[in-house]
Amino acid sequence: MSAHWWTALQERFRGLAPWDARHISDEWFRAHFDYAADVVNHWVGDVLDVRTARLLNFGCGDGITDLSLVLRYGATAIHGVDIRQEYAKLPRIAREQLGMARIPAALTFETIQPGSPLAGRRKPVDGIMSWSTFEHVQRDQLAPILADLRDCLRPGGYFFIQIEPLFFSPFGSHLKRYDDVPWHHLLVSEDELWKIVRDHEGPIDAAEVDFGFADFGVEGYKRFVFKEYQALNRLTADELLDLAVAAGFNVVRQERRQVDLPIPEPLKGRYPEELLLNNEIFLLLQRP
Ligand SMILES: C[S@@+](CC[C@H](N)C(=O)[O-])C[C@H]1O[C@@H](n2cnc3c(N)ncnc32)[C@H](O)[C@@H]1O
Repeated sequence: MSAHWWTALQERFRGLAPWDARHISDEWFRAHFDYAADVVNHWVGDVLDVRTARLLNFGCGDGITDLSLVLRYGATAIHGVDIRQEYAKLPRIAREQLGMARIPAALTFETIQPGSPLAGRRKPVDGIMSWSTFEHVQRDQLAPILADLRDCLRPGGYFFIQIEPLFFSPFGSHLKRYDDVPWHHLLVSEDELWKIVRDHEGPIDAAEVDFGFADFGVEGYKRFVFKEYQALNRLTADELLDLAVAAGFNVVRQERRQVDLPIPEPLKGRYPEELLLNNEIFLLLQRP
């Protein structure tokens, strides 16, 4: 009998393992358990009943948001996919942060190869969500992945995408934990940027330190985060919209957020103002 079936059986008779949010001590955990899950529920819960919907999380990371959707919003079926295996830490994280003995059977996770097709392998889902992931997908894989995700949905199903920070915004490098100069990645060379990261000393914002930090150590984490910066696809909100429409989605709703910061002289005229100020997009799509 698989561990998942055993958990499902236990839940049938004993309910979900008890948990207590008063144990939460980690700011990364809190940001996902509270904020990210609230936002996903706000958008997805507006068009689907999350308690009965079959959901897919594309780029689920450590799965904290999914766990919260189950515990706080009653989701009963979320399948998380990711090219990394951070979700394997979720049982330990749930134990440490919630005092929870086992993670709910409503959650399943899978490691995928980048760009490997998902459609047709499982029953179509009612909804897909993707949080802070699409800016990390290799650019030439964006169109095929979007088309594949459309095919993972049942007709009429919804897809919610969030990206923050967008590349051309002040901290679009994702390096703010090491460098708080707005738009620095558009102003200095990659070598200069790496020196700033490499030479950084002292603590970094706890809300930006994920559970992978412990695996890498202080210097290894710098190298990891900088490699992530170099791999960003530099997607803009307009490009994301065009790609989604080209993949056959209807746009149901979108919200774009702007930062209120003065644009540095050297960037004026080099990039459109709205590109530099737009740091976040929330996008709700529907498969016709
Ligand atoms: C910044 S993390 C966000 C993770 C999670 N959504 C969260 O909010 O913590 C970006 C995630 O996208 C995943 N990712 C990048 N490219 C991917 C791809 N082609 N397919 C699936 N996941 C991908 C990464 O492994 C990583 O877990």
